[in-house]
Amino acid sequence: MAAHWAPDSWTKAEARQLPDYPDAAALDRATDQLKSFPPLVFAGEARNLTTELAKVSEGKGFLLQGGDCAESFAEFHPNNIRDTFRVILQMAVVLTFASKLPVVKLGRMAGQFAKPRSAPTEVVDGVELPSYRGDNVNDIAFTPEARIPDPQRLIRGYTQSAATLNLLRAFAQGGYANLHQVHRWTHDFMGRSPWAKKYAETADRIGEALEFMAACGIDPETVPQLAQTHFYTSHEALHLPYEQAMTRQDSLTGDWYDTSAHFLWIGDRTRFEGSAHVEYLRGIGNPIGVKCGPSLDPDALLRMLDTLNPGRAPGRMTLITRYGYDKIEAALPKLVRAVTREGHPVVWSCDPMHGNTVKAVTGYKTRPFERILAEVRGFFAVHRAEGTHAGGIHAEMTGQNVTECTGGAIDVTEQTLADRYHTHCDPRLNAGQSLELAFLLAEMLNEEMAERRRVAA
Ligand code: PEP
Ligand code: CO
Repeated sequence: MAAHWAPDSWTKAEARQLPDYPDAAALDRATDQLKSFPPLVFAGEARNLTTELAKVSEGKGFLLQGGDCAESFAEFHPNNIRDTFRVILQMAVVLTFASKLPVVKLGRMAGQFAKPRSAPTEVVDGVELPSYRGDNVNDIAFTPEARIPDPQRLIRGYTQSAATLNLLRAFAQGGYANLHQVHRWTHDFMGRSPWAKKYAETADRIGEALEFMAACGIDPETVPQLAQTHFYTSHEALHLPYEQAMTRQDSLTGDWYDTSAHFLWIGDRTRFEGSAHVEYLRGIGNPIGVKCGPSLDPDALLRMLDTLNPGRAPGRMTLITRYGYDKIEAALPKLVRAVTREGHPVVWSCDPMHGNTVKAVTGYKTRPFERILAEVRGFFAVHRAEGTHAGGIHAEMTGQNVTECTGGAIDVTEQTLADRYHTHCDPRLNAGQSLELAFLLAEMLNEEMAERRRVAA
């Protein structure tokens, strides 16, 4: 257990990006209520995830983390949850096949509400209002009333998280994750994609492998594991009063866990030295992530790792790098070398989204698909050169057919962004673009595995 730590010790440190509640007593009432609510996850599940991530850090697995930039009350619908879950499973099958490694599935779901913002206020047509900070804080409508932080939104966020998690658990365990079914969806998608030829070989080989297994008597009827999966949840641990209220002592070990999700991460804007967010995450037993952007220097990262994982427990730390397609190859080697030299066991994961946001001529925030792919390529190239494992991907994505990122096989252009632009925050990959990303990742993982075999031979 972390020394000199309590669930509220963060309150003595500098906290950035927290909402300014006009009524402190109302916030206390909401967090008191949350403290009496059931935990959303069990500490043992978080420990299982740590064990799976430890394997990834040793090069024996791959992490697939994805979901909305910001979940919203408006988009809360079983079909949205189902469709995003389905695309993550499809991506996982492709990646498992390519790498021959287990893929850890982690949703940015069931709690991803609070958002850090670049500026505290927003100006539209000369009117300045507080920024939107996520649906569990205030409302996205551009009116003075909507932007006032309301603590009751935390209760609604909890309730939506509980219902989302319940459905995810049902899908993961109840037969929806059947491997044959997942492959059929991918096959159907392939038939419609203009890039189908590029992926045909991988998809056909997966199909053949499944047929071969079935012929040997290994199918979801005989081996129930093929009809089920493990699915974990994650979000940015930004709203510290909420996370504190969800922090509980595990009755088996006596350790503290944040029971709002299996995995929590610290954003690029709140990972500075002396940060309240680092102080909070230091004391919880969950596996945690840190976003690593251009302003993070290797020595600061090493000090942070010593703070967050002094015992160097494998699986505890995931470093999520997010540089931008044109910066990653120059910046990432310094971090990788420092972490490797000091012997910190980490999962290296690539967020190719947050360093590649641009404004389209039409005014929409977007991300060109080619730049997303270019950052992923850069990530794999650096890890190959350094001899480390390119261990994961972190994507903002949805199972819906949105038009938020430009490019991809069914080309979204700057002009068509307006057609189905629904995100409450950053632009997400749509279902087709997500699966295309998986096929491209598969190629790169294949190369990494071939290289490993060459070195071992
Ligand atoms: C995010 O993941 O939604 C986010 C805000 O990322 P970052 O902290 O890397 O900017
Ligand atoms: Co985002």
